[in-house]
Formats: sequence, structure tokens, C-alpha cells
Amino acid sequence: MIDLRSDTVTKPSPGMLQAMVNAEVGDDVFGEDPTVKELQSEISALLGKEAGLFVPSGVMSNQLALRVHTNPGDEVILESGSHIANHESGAAGALAGVQLLSIKGSRGIIDPTEIENSIRTGYYWEPNPRLVCIENTHNQAGGVIYPLDTILETNEIVRERDLAFHLDGARLWNASIATGVSEAQYAAPFDSISVCLSKGLGAPIGSVLVGSSDFIAQAHRFRKMYGGGMRQVGILAAAGLFALRNQKDDLANDHARAKILAEGLSAIAAFSVDPTRVETNIVMFDVQDDSISALEKMKAAGVLMVPFGPKTIRATTHRDVDDASIDEVLRILNRIF
Ligand SMILES: Cc1ncc(COP(=O)(O)O)c(C=O)c1O
Repeated sequence: MIDLRSDTVTKPSPGMLQAMVNAEVGDDVFGEDPTVKELQSEISALLGKEAGLFVPSGVMSNQLALRVHTNPGDEVILESGSHIANHESGAAGALAGVQLLSIKGSRGIIDPTEIENSIRTGYYWEPNPRLVCIENTHNQAGGVIYPLDTILETNEIVRERDLAFHLDGARLWNASIATGVSEAQYAAPFDSISVCLSKGLGAPIGSVLVGSSDFIAQAHRFRKMYGGGMRQVGILAAAGLFALRNQKDDLANDHARAKILAEGLSAIAAFSVDPTRVETNIVMFDVQDDSISALEKMKAAGVLMVPFGPKTIRATTHRDVDDASIDEVLRILNRIF
């Protein structure tokens, strides 16, 4: 089976397993795990923020940010295809008690003036606008990179209106590798950033939330409340550190393979895809009939992808698929479609 469902399906590499075995650990609920502390400080330094917090998942990381930045009844402005609005099981309402104001962007990118126009004017009967979230790269839009200029323009509005600014940077590494813009440059305008170690970097588990020391102290308390306090979790932090130090540059290979895949798919009449739109490791393409039956046909032939709409399929490249696997996928799809 060639698994292109997600960049989360990778298995730990031999070097990563060794790093996990050798990890120095302690009880992190008592703040005594040296490897967790090392990971938190390495990532917060890389992103130019004061402090970091290791958490089990990207969802928890985003939700802690929402919880700390807002009060129940506040409004959070985000893009309508964002992970926070669509793929976090309604947590923003259930856990932070906020309401979401979704704006449809163009391929995941919101025109800053639309954000400006959507910020409420302050009547007491309105929800209190409090936070703007963006996603870089944007998953549902197909791994689209949020342009730095647009982020900076949005930030001017955010600051003028005294809101907070959160980045869901689950795949910020991909944006940085693809553009050469450093993670710190991307992170600078934001109050908080969530990054995932378990996506293209190839760690089995884990995300890190960064921000000011005060923000992270509050997030630390809510992490415990949400059941995310972990004990000898340096074993997993070691995997994250190994991924960050040794596997980040490999993302360029994933990007090149996604392009090759998209070009190959565009040559198959049953599919519709524009390879010039592939910016990182995600390929979105449309099928003529319905995505579910196309995916069943692929599965029977040994290829896994995921549906992202009635006619839309997502394929994601990652470190456990090589050039030969991509060639094989294209051979199979040419044969069965
Ligand atoms: C953009 C984005 N944010 C957040 C997440 C959540 O990460 P996790 O699955 O670790 O909770 C994902 C997961 O795919 C994602 O794509």
C-alpha cells in the first residue's frame, strides 16, 4: 500500500528511535523532564518567542491559544476552510466558549481589508472581537503558503484594533523551506504560534505552542485542565528534537515529489489539477465522478488518499514515500482511470 493520506502517517526513522531510547527523562508534570525543556526552549528560540509548551497535538495547541487569548462570548476571526473551524470537533465553542466569524479567503488567504471590515464596532450587543487566526501553510486550500506581506498587512489591522493574532503553523516548516523565509520572520507578527512535529517532520506525536512567558504560563495551566499534562514525555520530545535537527531539510524532497505527482495527475484525463498551484507537499485534485468511489478504486489497487469534498481528493507527500513510490502511484492511476 502506498499511503498518501497524510504526512502524519510516517514511522519514526532509525536515528529517531535511537534518540528516543537515549532520551534523558523526568516527570514533566513536576517540570523535571530535561528533554522536554530543551525542546521547548529550542523551538521558542527558533520562532523568536519567550517560551514554549510541548503538547500532545496540534488541536490542543490551537485550542489552548484560543482559551488563553479569549473569554467566553468573544469572537474569533478566521478563514472558512481553516483547521480550527472545520477539523477540531467544535472545540472552539465547547472549550473556549467563543464564536467563530469565518471569512472565505482566496485559496485560504484572506484579503486584510475583509478582516478589517469584519471587526465589529463595539456595540454592547455584539460579540467582542478578540482574536484573528490564520493558517500557514493552509491545509484545506492545498498546502498554500500565506504570503508574508499579507501577514504583515493583517498584523497592522490586528494591532490597530487591539486584537490578538494566532498562527496555526502546523506546517510552518514547509512554508519556510519552500520560500527561504525563516520561521522567526513568519512568527514575528504573532502573539502565539502552534507548530507540529508530527506532520512532515516525521515525529510520532507532538506540537509546541509558543508565545510570551505570561501567555505560556496560562496555557500550561489549561493544558493540565485539558488532560494534557504528561509524565516522562522526554521520550517523545527527543523524537521532536531529532526531527527538527535532522529531518527538516528533507521537506524539500516532499515538495518536489508533490509537483511530480501533480504533473502526472494532470496528464490523466479523469482528473483535473493545476500543478502550478502546488506550493508545498499537498496536492488537491478533482475527479469526474465522486471522490469516495474513486478512492475505493485506488485502495483496491494499493494507493491511499483522502476525500476533501464530493469531487475533491487530497494527496500528501511525506518522508516515507520516495521517488519510486510516486512513479508507482502514477503508473497505477494511469492504469485504473
Ligand atoms: C493546519 C492544521 N492544524 C492543526 C492540525 C491538528 O494537528 P493534530 O492532528 O496533531 O491535532 C492539523 C492536522 O492535520 C492541521 O492540518
